[in-house]
Order: sequence, then C-alpha cells, then structure tokens
Amino acid sequence: MAGIARSWSTRVAGGPTLRNTTPDAAGPGGIIGGVEPLPEQTSIDDLLIRRWRAEDVPALHEAITSNIDHLRPRMPWIADEPTSIEDRRLLVDGWTAAWRDGGDVVMGIWRDDRVVGATGLHHRGWPDGPEIGFWVDGACQGQGIASRSSRALVDLVASDGRYDAVYLAHDRTNLASRRVPEKLGFDLLHEVPVTDPEKIAPADAGFSVRWRMAIDWWRAGAGVGPG
Ligand SMILES: CC(C)(COP(=O)(O)OP(=O)(O)OC[C@H]1O[C@@H](n2cnc3c(N)ncnc32)[C@H](O)[C@@H]1OP(=O)(O)O)[C@@H](O)C(=O)NCCC(=O)NCCS
Repeated sequence: MAGIARSWSTRVAGGPTLRNTTPDAAGPGGIIGGVEPLPEQTSIDDLLIRRWRAEDVPALHEAITSNIDHLRPRMPWIADEPTSIEDRRLLVDGWTAAWRDGGDVVMGIWRDDRVVGATGLHHRGWPDGPEIGFWVDGACQGQGIASRSSRALVDLVASDGRYDAVYLAHDRTNLASRRVPEKLGFDLLHEVPVTDPEKIAPADAGFSVRWRMAIDWWRAGAGVGPG
C-alpha cells in the first residue's frame, strides 16, 4: 500500500471516529499512488462509471451547460462556465494525461448512454487514499446516483488494492452530499474551515466536513448498501 504516513487508531464499531489526520502528505501534484493508472471504469446496477475520454467531450459539454444553474450553488468551478467545447477538449486531454501518469481519474456517470452525473477519484493530499467527488444531473436527483456511484468507487479502490482508505468531503450545509458517506458507513473525521475563497461555492458556509472509509473495514463488509 502506498504512502502511509501516519498511524491510525482502531475504529470502534458503530461509534464516532477519528483521529489525527489532515490532507497534507502528498507530494507535488498530489499523486500518492505511484505511476500505475487507476482503473478507468466500473458499474453498478444500471449505472456505468467511466473515465471521460476525447469522444465524450460533446456529452460532457451538454451535461455541464444544461446544469450550470443547478451546480452553481455548490460547485466552485462553475464560476468558469460557460466554457467552449474546444476548452473542454483541452481539459479532458489534461485529465487523460494526468490519469495516465497515475493521477486523478475523472469520470462520467452514464445510464442508457446518457450522462446522469460525474464523479471521480482525486488525489487531494490525503496520506493513504483518494477523495471521491460527485455531482448529479438536476433532473436525476434522489435516485441514489451519487450514493451508488460512490459505493462503486469504494469497491473499485478496494479491488485495486493500492490504498488503505477513501475520503469524501462536502460543505457543512450540503445535507444531500452528507447523506452519501453517512449511508455508506464512512467515519466522520472532522470539520475544517475552507481557507481558499475560490473553493467556496455560493451556497456553501465555507466549512468542509470530511469523511474516511478504511478499506479493510469496507472489505470486512462494514459498508452499508445505499438505497
Ligand atoms: C448532492 C448530490 C450529488 C446528491 O446526488 P443524488 O444522486 O441526488 O444523491 P442520492 O440520491 O444518492 O442521495 C441523496 C440523499 O440526500 C437526501 N437529501 C436530498 N436533499 C436533501 C436535503 N436538502 N436535506 C437533507 N437530505 C437531503 C436524499 O433524501 C438522499 O438520502 P436518503 O437516501 O437517505 O433519502 C446532488 O444533489 C448534486 O449534484 N447537487 C449539486 C452539486 C453538489 O452538491 N455536489 C456535491 C458537492 S460535495
């Protein structure tokens, strides 16, 4: 397992947790997993979760441009939208290059060949694992898409075997996001103020709630299946 920089206290079943960890131990570029690319695809139920590729750019463009108003309150990067399809192509090329070098895997969530959201595994400086991020199409809320995709990504990390944990973070006021780690059985780590104003979306309070799933714990069957 890569990059374990700290010791961890034992989880007490069912109890509140953690512990002394902060996302500060990655090297330049935040890559902590070595150079092997992460798996690029998984699925759960009717959802296909797949790394964005060059041929997906039109679908990604359509999904984002039709969700700008839905995403603006919670996704800071929407401040840069609308962007051109050419810029989007460059972005996806950059994601692909970073993924090939062992960096983040940035993925679409597809159902019946239609984009219903986006997710991914991001190296955000945690010492022993990546962080899940997600958004779901405004017309597809409340169908368990974020919960099921996150479950599939924890399974993916568990199968891949290189990390000891998976993380998830959301603003204190984002209660829909909060339900995802809660339902999956993540441990609540802590809440910290967000210091970079560019990372605070308009509806956010500016306090990041952080969660951790220990992969051993997940493998032992502690993860709760989302509805
Ligand atoms: C947050 C988001 C990803 C959730 O996606 P989703 O696919 O609708 O989520 P799920 O269906 O898996 O689960 C949502 C849960 O939140 C609950 N929920 C939804 N709105 C809620 C609210 N305002 N308050 C409390 N709970 C809420 C749902 O009831 C569900 O929980 P349940 O299964 O216990 O009933 C989606 O709303 C979204 O894209 N929002 C805008 C962008 C965003 O916030 N991204 C995440 C940034 S961390």
